[in-house]
Amino acid sequence: MTERKNKREAPLGNYYGRRHDRPLKDEEEKLLTELLPTLQVTEENLDVWLNNDSGKHTVCEIGFGGGEHLYAHACANPDKHYLGIEPFISGTVKLLQNIAMHNPGNMVLCQTDAKLMLTKMPAGCLDEVYILFADPWPKKRHHKRRIINHFTLNELYRVLKPGGEIRIATDHPGFLMWVEEHLVWAEERRLFTVQYKASERPHTWPPTRYEQKALSKGDTCHYFLLQRL
Ligand SMILES: C[S@@+](CC[C@H](N)C(=O)[O-])C[C@H]1O[C@@H](n2cnc3c(N)ncnc32)[C@H](O)[C@@H]1O
Repeated sequence: MTERKNKREAPLGNYYGRRHDRPLKDEEEKLLTELLPTLQVTEENLDVWLNNDSGKHTVCEIGFGGGEHLYAHACANPDKHYLGIEPFISGTVKLLQNIAMHNPGNMVLCQTDAKLMLTKMPAGCLDEVYILFADPWPKKRHHKRRIINHFTLNELYRVLKPGGEIRIATDHPGFLMWVEEHLVWAEERRLFTVQYKASERPHTWPPTRYEQKALSKGDTCHYFLLQRL
């Protein structure tokens, strides 16, 4: 019990989102106590996992929500390695339910604030990063909580290999403007170039749950592909 509590209380850095959307059922608790520790990466062992896998194509999804997108990638690409970062426990449980049925064996999970975890990663350890439908934090006083900011873009530049890629998607008009402004800033500093920018999802990107919700409401989604210089 104590161990489980400690694992759930992984450092949250500046994560402000919710951690649960409802009380967990017994079988969900069991996934957290029995399956999650076999897949879990923390500040302490992140370096080991990344080093052990050096030479392998490594992808990090920040804010995987229910994990459907991450799971689809991991199943479709057994030769690649996936690190999912998501402090939302109810989302992690959804992903664990899929893994319990079929574990693709190339995925690890972390429940800490991604901004904090990025600072713990060695330089040049990632090939790709996905930030899909990040929380838009629409109120001005909450903009500092947005995952895309100058600090994160500098950290992403540091942890990506040259030529590495970032995928970003959003359906929120205010956050879209924010992303566009930050990408101009990143291009001016020669951190990244924007390779793709459109309201059509590239066919090689699996859908996400949040995207499906937005599309069903008739909202427009916007997609960006950046390349690290
Ligand atoms: C709107 S949801 C989108 C989930 C998923 N990407 C999708 O498209 O269905 C945003 C997710 O980002 C997660 N998130 C927010 N801040 C985060 C942070 N600092 N580190 C990691 N994940 C974060 C939230 O917990 C939430 O699950």
